[in-house]
Amino acid sequence: MNRKIIFTTLFTLLFVGVIVVIVVCFIAKNGKRVEEEVLPFWKTEIIYQVYPRSFFDGVPDGTGDLAGISSRMEYLTHLGIGVVWLNPVFQSPMKDFGYDISNYTDIDPIFGTMDDLDHLIAEVHRHGLKILLDFVPNHSSDQHEWFIKSVNREDPYTNYYVWSDGKVLANDTRVPPNNWVSKFRGSAWEYNEKRGQYYYHQYLKEQPDLNYRSPNLKEEMKNVLTFWLKKGVDGFRIDALVSLFEVEDLNLDEPVASDSDTDDPNDHAYLNHTYTLNQPETFEVLAEWRHLVDKYPNKVLITEVYTAVEDVMRYYGNDTVPLADFSFNYFLQDSLMNRSELTGDSLKQTVNLWLDNLPPNKWPNWVLGNHDNGRVASRVGKDLVDALNMLNLLLPGTPTTYYGEELGMENTFISWEDTRDPKGCRWGKEHYQEYSRDPERTPMQWNKTSLAGFTTASDTWLPVNPNYEYLNVLAQEEAEVSHLKVYRSLAELRKTQTFIKGEIAFPFTSKEIFSFTRTLEGSEEYLVVINTAVEEVEVNLHQNSNFELPEHGTVVLRSITDTSQHSEIGSVVNLAELLLVPAQGDYQHLVILAVVEDDICN
Ligand code: GLC
Repeated sequence: MNRKIIFTTLFTLLFVGVIVVIVVCFIAKNGKRVEEEVLPFWKTEIIYQVYPRSFFDGVPDGTGDLAGISSRMEYLTHLGIGVVWLNPVFQSPMKDFGYDISNYTDIDPIFGTMDDLDHLIAEVHRHGLKILLDFVPNHSSDQHEWFIKSVNREDPYTNYYVWSDGKVLANDTRVPPNNWVSKFRGSAWEYNEKRGQYYYHQYLKEQPDLNYRSPNLKEEMKNVLTFWLKKGVDGFRIDALVSLFEVEDLNLDEPVASDSDTDDPNDHAYLNHTYTLNQPETFEVLAEWRHLVDKYPNKVLITEVYTAVEDVMRYYGNDTVPLADFSFNYFLQDSLMNRSELTGDSLKQTVNLWLDNLPPNKWPNWVLGNHDNGRVASRVGKDLVDALNMLNLLLPGTPTTYYGEELGMENTFISWEDTRDPKGCRWGKEHYQEYSRDPERTPMQWNKTSLAGFTTASDTWLPVNPNYEYLNVLAQEEAEVSHLKVYRSLAELRKTQTFIKGEIAFPFTSKEIFSFTRTLEGSEEYLVVINTAVEEVEVNLHQNSNFELPEHGTVVLRSITDTSQHSEIGSVVNLAELLLVPAQGDYQHLVILAVVEDDICN
């Protein structure tokens, strides 16, 4: 039979359940391989997010830098990723760790120099990778010269920010013009004595919002994009785009959210953000940026828009007015905030939330975590690290991996004294742990030498996770099986045409099981099954399936801890009686299975 089958099975053996992923591959009997159409890099490659303060400390002072990143090219290429996205490295007082920019076209000394960035761009390209920068257009630092000049009402800077006289109450007290709340808590308005007006800040008061109703400001920001495009970067991740515009009438109060789970008026979630998010003018400015970026070949624009799915999809634009190539899909990440909500059904629902809402001919993408959310292993369980990397990498579309997730790095406990993240600090000692983003920003764990091999300095900007002694790159390189090795195998697997271009379908879903196929005419076809049950489950994958599945599969890769005989590499399993082992301990179990009936699937 002219057919090859590959199965991937992931068993997670933890007291909470078993996760199994199966991938089946075969060549359709009469199928012909489809002509290989050349896709842009952002469709075929994995994006790897590097938080520069924490990746590698090349010029040892305890904080990661550009030279450090340049020195890790071998690691990145070997990992199988194709695109490096850097969080901001621009000049900044670091009130929000680089998201408060005081010069958009210069590098902060903490990260190095412009020469270091030029060198990094060259190194990335020399290794056949691409590089994306963070573009932070919503706000600058209050130390930016534009803001200082705006405070002094020096033209053309006078209206570069969102200024308002505020309101004067009957008792002569001056108050902000409206009830808008900062995402980082408290009023979004700050009074500036010198100018005698309030300015708007969606984030910290040290991050005043830029005013895109000023044509000069709009032009300045286009010049910023052009500056970096000319340097040869391959695209941008656009920060906080939903907040780019506010309604023009600053006297409008936002309504209290009826479905909010907080009664704290200082909490951003207290209000419905009718007047400060997704304003129509935002799409017009994005269209102008798209137009500008398209003057340079092969660039990508990705937007950060935490908002309802219907609104997220609007940022793709349409054929007449193209906008972003995609907005990061945060729905998978957000559905994985804790283990209790994870079921086969919930996974299917989350995957479909994106796919069902995707406009025609638009490209999907998946995100498990980032510098603003806890580590996957800590949110949902160490045992799910491989399963979730597998989902991220094998679903249709572009995956993004936050540094260290390939190792299953965990949140680091940060004491109140060590807390650096302003978001955490603003909630005070009692609540900082619920909000601080420090735990997921700690140094990359390279080896078991002092400070995880991240630096030769005597201290690090955030503490290293004490688990570095066993959870580190070198340990996972040396281990026979490890998350890192699983990740690399997945990265290799997803290079196949089926994973890049194939269709997705769902043969079987239940409370315990989530499964999907990836198929492409004339190419290998795959089936992925995830079992989230707490008991041993025997599943008949043919049952309820509205399409034909192969009968058997053979293991091609398996979990770091799976020692069971039936899932050994090369073992054949029956899809009508697939036995998924029960929880056996607090460790993880990944299996990828493959059947090769002839040599067509090379
Ligand atoms: C984005 C960034 C976040 C930052 C915020 C303000 O959401 O991801 O880290 O604090 O924008 O710039």
